Amino acid sequence: MDHLFTPIKLGAYTLSHRVVLAPMTRLRTIQPGDIPSPMMADFYGQRASEGGFVLIEGVSISIVARSYLGAASWFDDSQTAGWKAIVRAVHAKGGRVFMQLIHGGRQSHVEMTGGVAPVAPSVVPFEGVALTKDGFVPVSPHRALDISEIPGIVEEFRVAAKRARDAGFDGVELHGANGYLVDQFIQDGSNKRTDAYGGPVENRVRFLRECVEALISVWGADRVGVRISPSGEWGDISDSDPEATFSHVAKVLNDYGIAYMHVIDPRIKGDETLHEGHAPVAAKSLRAFFKHPIIAAGGFDGASAEALVAAGDADLVAFGRHFTSNPDLPYRLKHRLPLTPYVRAAFWGGTEKHYSDFPTYDGVSAA
Ligand SMILES: Cc1cc2nc3c(=O)[nH]c(=O)nc-3n(C[C@H](O)[C@H](O)[C@H](O)COP(=O)(O)O)c2cc1C
Repeated sequence: MDHLFTPIKLGAYTLSHRVVLAPMTRLRTIQPGDIPSPMMADFYGQRASEGGFVLIEGVSISIVARSYLGAASWFDDSQTAGWKAIVRAVHAKGGRVFMQLIHGGRQSHVEMTGGVAPVAPSVVPFEGVALTKDGFVPVSPHRALDISEIPGIVEEFRVAAKRARDAGFDGVELHGANGYLVDQFIQDGSNKRTDAYGGPVENRVRFLRECVEALISVWGADRVGVRISPSGEWGDISDSDPEATFSHVAKVLNDYGIAYMHVIDPRIKGDETLHEGHAPVAAKSLRAFFKHPIIAAGGFDGASAEALVAAGDADLVAFGRHFTSNPDLPYRLKHRLPLTPYVRAAFWGGTEKHYSDFPTYDGVSAA
């Protein structure tokens, strides 16, 4: 595990290892109001480590940006105290913490958006779900954004980034993956616009660029990351030429000199392994276009993560599902200790059970 446990510079920060907590929406905010709960502070604090890197679940930047009841958001001062508690919990363990900022776009439902139609680059009916009080339900019909509305959304990203800075976070990650709004603009299956935001890839990345520039205006490039999911299938997203599209995206991000690019492998669809036994391909394929640190995610265990970093295909590896049930995952990987299996039934909402009550390895072995 030598490579995973070698220090690395990630933008403005020096990390002592490369095992990253992937962003995971766990639907544990207090309702109504999407207030970050004390159990969320416990969850993140437990998973933080000295010199480790923690990514907060997708945080919606406005009411219209929301997709899932119980998910995190931050557009109101009433939410600030809960977020500060989460920052304190991570910093108390010596970790660094970035907040993932998201706009769900067409992946939503009128019950989540405050009664208005979800927004998207274009109207393209698709198979998707949102979470309301009735459980996971088909999304509501969406409408295409007028070009005059786009600066307002970019501004919402900027304001959310500023909130995160004022509350003591270490940086922000733009959610450009998994078929949410930024990804809907990037990929031509969902972007049929004929204005400056549609057509050739240079236009389809315009919204991405504007969002990244808004985040950089608050944080500086060395405290901003971007997550993408080339050829990912969550959110019924598609592109006619993913190789060309995402190599262009990687080049664009490279030129901003951001802290890192975070790449989800297409063998994963959201929270599930779609293609068991497939080798990771995404980070390696984009390496030539992005010269700063790459975080790879999707389907890794300790051995495959170590191999990927050793091969130079990525610099860090983010873990999702294994981290849910192993709060001390870096320690367990480093010492090649057994992992506690994750509990899928507790992924999407619930109490502390199978969320913030998983013991560390010492606790497991004592029991
Ligand atoms: C319950 C759950 C919620 C997730 N929520 C998010 C999210 O908010 N933002 C995001 O970018 N990815 C999200 N993901 C995807 C993970 O970050 C990660 O890419 C995925 O779990 C694959 O990694 P793994 O194989 O290590 O689990 C979620 C995954 C799970 C299991």
